[in-house]
Amino acid sequence: MAVDKTPMPSRRAFAGLLTAGAGLAALTACTPQEGTPSPAAAGVPAEGTPSAAASPSATSSTATASATPPAAVEPTTEPTVASPSQAPSSTLKTQHSLTDPTSPWVIVNKHRPLNPQDYVPADLAQPGVRLAVSGEAALLNSTTAAAAEKMFGAAAAEGVIMTLASGYRSYATQVSTYNGYVASTGQAAADRASARPGHSEHQTGWSFDIGDGGGACSFQPCFAEQPAAIWAKANAHKYGFVVRYPWMFHETTGYYYESWHLRYIGVDAAVDMTTRGIATLEEYFGLEAAPDYL
Ligand code: DAL
Ligand code: ZN
Repeated sequence: MAVDKTPMPSRRAFAGLLTAGAGLAALTACTPQEGTPSPAAAGVPAEGTPSAAASPSATSSTATASATPPAAVEPTTEPTVASPSQAPSSTLKTQHSLTDPTSPWVIVNKHRPLNPQDYVPADLAQPGVRLAVSGEAALLNSTTAAAAEKMFGAAAAEGVIMTLASGYRSYATQVSTYNGYVASTGQAAADRASARPGHSEHQTGWSFDIGDGGGACSFQPCFAEQPAAIWAKANAHKYGFVVRYPWMFHETTGYYYESWHLRYIGVDAAVDMTTRGIATLEEYFGLEAAPDYL
């Protein structure tokens, strides 16, 4: 399996870069990964925050997604979990489906669309956490909502402000979000930042984006250096979450680093994956890398 094993610079090394000069510092702080798009800077609405600019009618010279989901596809082939060394999850007592969207282990990526593509969780609930959004974006599936309440509470107890910045997103909302990115940045850049409709974890209710109540770095590369992201990276696994799109693993996940996007997989799996130093769900579950759509 092709996995980007490029070593990451240490936080100390990164901090060193920040002292190199004000101009460089600003560039580096908001550019943890070369080529990372900054849609907001380009006038693109924050992920999960559709606006007029993100409407399907926004003009674009490139292809955009249709508001009508395709007919249900055949179930994604259950992946081969080849050997224990490739599938550390097999060491866990409780196993879950990798294809059923109601499963905490469902893997949704550029090779694995949701089935059905217009799936809607039956148990959407609004967690009792600090909200930066309203409406459907403030919803999660009930299991994720309960886990989020524990995590946000633990962060708050340590003085870290965390907000729910984008939770559930329907197929139709993802159409608007994705098309907004395409209109503003072009399709290639959009595909590194926003999932095509029917391919977003947000539609499962198992994922959400965090903010910090400030907003200057919301959905931006520099969010990685904010207390909320630093705390989440160090602690989220204790509550069942992993940072789904880590730095330097876009060749595996298909997306640039999203320090704000957390995914619930359950405490046992998240602790197992984190303590083993496994960065992506694709690796953890022994699945192929999904850098691009098939
Ligand atoms: N930004 C993530 C990949 C999504 O659109 O679901
Ligand atoms: Zn997200």
